[in-house]
Amino acid sequence: MPTIVFASPKGGAGKSTSAVILATELAAAGAEITIIDADPNKPVARWSRLPGKPQSLRVIDDVTEKTIIRVIDSEAERAAFVVVDLEGTASRMVPYAMSRADLVLIPTRGSVLDAVEAVAAIREVKQQEEAFRLHIPAAVIFTNTSAAIRPRTLSAIEAEFAENGVHVLKTRLHEREAYRALFSFGGTLEALDPANVRNIPAAIENAQAFAREVVGLLRRNRGEVNA
Ligand SMILES: Nc1ncnc2c1ncn2[C@@H]1O[C@H](COP(=O)(O)OP(=O)(O)OP(=O)(O)O)[C@@H](O)[C@H]1O
Ligand SMILES: [Mg+2]
Repeated sequence: MPTIVFASPKGGAGKSTSAVILATELAAAGAEITIIDADPNKPVARWSRLPGKPQSLRVIDDVTEKTIIRVIDSEAERAAFVVVDLEGTASRMVPYAMSRADLVLIPTRGSVLDAVEAVAAIREVKQQEEAFRLHIPAAVIFTNTSAAIRPRTLSAIEAEFAENGVHVLKTRLHEREAYRALFSFGGTLEALDPANVRNIPAAIENAQAFAREVVGLLRRNRGEVNA
């Protein structure tokens, strides 16, 4: 089933956070999910060792350049969704994972400097499309945005992406304490303790909208009706 790859050469763009949010939301909806943690720093594997990882979510962290394609293919056979979290720096795992992606998601913060790095990630997707003679759908997702204000810079960057034919998700993952807290307490957004973390319902709503939009995009890309 579909493979979603989180990629960006920009460190701290929000790849691992967005990958865990997507995977846990899909798991909460009842799907069997695999996350492949392809970052040698293993942020997702660390999260998975904390309490509360959903039963239906499997984390694989022992992939290498030699094995990643095989692991993606075999997980895609059994899981409803495979989510791959890549490291920021260049590694051969990046093109290999992209070659198997049904969707490459490129998280970016809403500044011009960050957007430049997102463009580099899009260029890399295009290179893999040529190398593998494949169409690899890709989209930018704004992360760490403010729920309250919408800076002009963000609109300007969005307009520029649109002019260049780059798909930008409508849902932005706002800057939320709950998203950081996932990596401190483990588990899912739904299981966070309101005594420890503020505004969990808004974080859940935002995460669900993100998961819905990704699933809708995958369906549309596959040409399914009613998507
Ligand atoms: N939507 C968000 N709300 C709050 N904090 C966030 C959000 N997204 C990311 N962060 C925080 O920003 C930092 C970087 O995020 P993250 O580790 O997900 O980025 P990354 O792209 O995976 O980084 P790397 O390139 O190092 O793998 C982390 O401290 C994380 O908690
Ligand atoms: Mg990361």
